[in-house]
Amino acid sequence: MKAMNILVFFLFCCLSSKSVLSSPGHYNAIFNFGDSHSDTGNFLLSGALAFPVIKNLPYGETFFHHATGRCSDGRLIIDFIAEAFGLPYLLPYLAVAKGSPVRTGVNFAVAGATAIDSSFFSAQQIVLSTNDSLNVQLGWFKNLKSSLCTTKQECDEYFKKSLFLVGEIGENDYNFPFLFGRTIEQLRPLVPQIVGAITRAVSMLIEEGAVDLVVPGQFPTGCISAYLTLFQSANISAYDPRTGCLRAYNTLFKYHNKYLKQELQNLREQYPHARIAYADYYGASMSIYRTPKLYGFYGGALRACCGGGGPYNFNMSRLCGQTGSTLCKLPSAFADWDGIHFTESASHHIAKGLIYGGFTSPPLLS
Ligand SMILES: *[C@@H]1O[C@H](CO)[C@@H](O)[C@H](O)[C@H]1NC(C)=O
Ligand SMILES: *[C@@H]1O[C@H](CO)[C@@H](O)[C@H](O)[C@H]1NC(C)=O
Ligand SMILES: *[C@@H]1O[C@H](CO)[C@@H](O)[C@H](O)[C@H]1NC(C)=O
Repeated sequence: MKAMNILVFFLFCCLSSKSVLSSPGHYNAIFNFGDSHSDTGNFLLSGALAFPVIKNLPYGETFFHHATGRCSDGRLIIDFIAEAFGLPYLLPYLAVAKGSPVRTGVNFAVAGATAIDSSFFSAQQIVLSTNDSLNVQLGWFKNLKSSLCTTKQECDEYFKKSLFLVGEIGENDYNFPFLFGRTIEQLRPLVPQIVGAITRAVSMLIEEGAVDLVVPGQFPTGCISAYLTLFQSANISAYDPRTGCLRAYNTLFKYHNKYLKQELQNLREQYPHARIAYADYYGASMSIYRTPKLYGFYGGALRACCGGGGPYNFNMSRLCGQTGSTLCKLPSAFADWDGIHFTESASHHIAKGLIYGGFTSPPLLS
């Protein structure tokens, strides 16, 4: 009876409308594109020259008990999404490129990656930590495709049962210019270009056969301890009194998200057969910044667990894992892992909000 009810519910919900993307067990594969927030090892396999600390503990200490190339103490949002769909953790493309094809999906994300091609930044003397931008990742996908399916029909069948995550990507398109002295006013006009790179990737994937896609927006990056340290202000009105986050930076990321949502609406009209969900990473993580103690973040949400001291435990010349950095005893009491990335515990709460809590629209799971 119960099974029947569930079946009727699914038939109703999924055939009569596009109100829910899917159910557990629905997908055979997940393909992910992005940056350090979802990289499960590509940057490490590519050498990790610009951020070598991720090669060693304490990275990975909480869950995997060794460094995997994830920029966290444990699992990332993408790992919790894979768990929710009953799929294995995504292997990094650079680990599978030469081996046998992985039918359950592959991760193309690279820590430090930008949405816009790297040449755009190098032309302005902005030095990135990787050139594996979104277009490079899409190229990897196309390379891999021939090992996954051959005829168009076979590919369409396979990709129809795959979930594509396009992001989060774009944060580094802001991070690196900020590090090289650009101002918010200078970067605001770049938003359409950054979003354009993301929506072009979505179009390309749909043309390649993707049907179910999730496109995340930006996090409130004005809340991470690196920003709070590097862009600190003596003017108290620079800070949101409810969270302590840097307002003007968050306003920029909110603008990016608004722009992205509009562009996704255009894509939905252009590709009515595709299901394109927007994932509100901003809203899902803002809950943590508003009420950190509700989530068990007794160290607050703004101070990094692992870092080189200072009010937010972040120092560019003493990064987590480098000499002179210290590590908190209980990472689960912190939302910010290393000043830039979330702890596993924060990622878990955010993932729950995205998967079950209404922060993805249409919802990711019924
Ligand atoms: C990216 O490409 C540029 C130009 O080819 C090169 O100079 C730079 O070293 C590359 N950066 C990385 C991190 O590979
Ligand atoms: C502080 O910032 C606010 C708005 O961000 C501005 O109006 C005000 O003039 C600033 N005060 C000082 C002392 O710079
Ligand atoms: C950051 O670390 C450097 C080198 O260890 C140190 O000289 C500097 O004082 C630190 N900065 C702050 C703001 O604590």
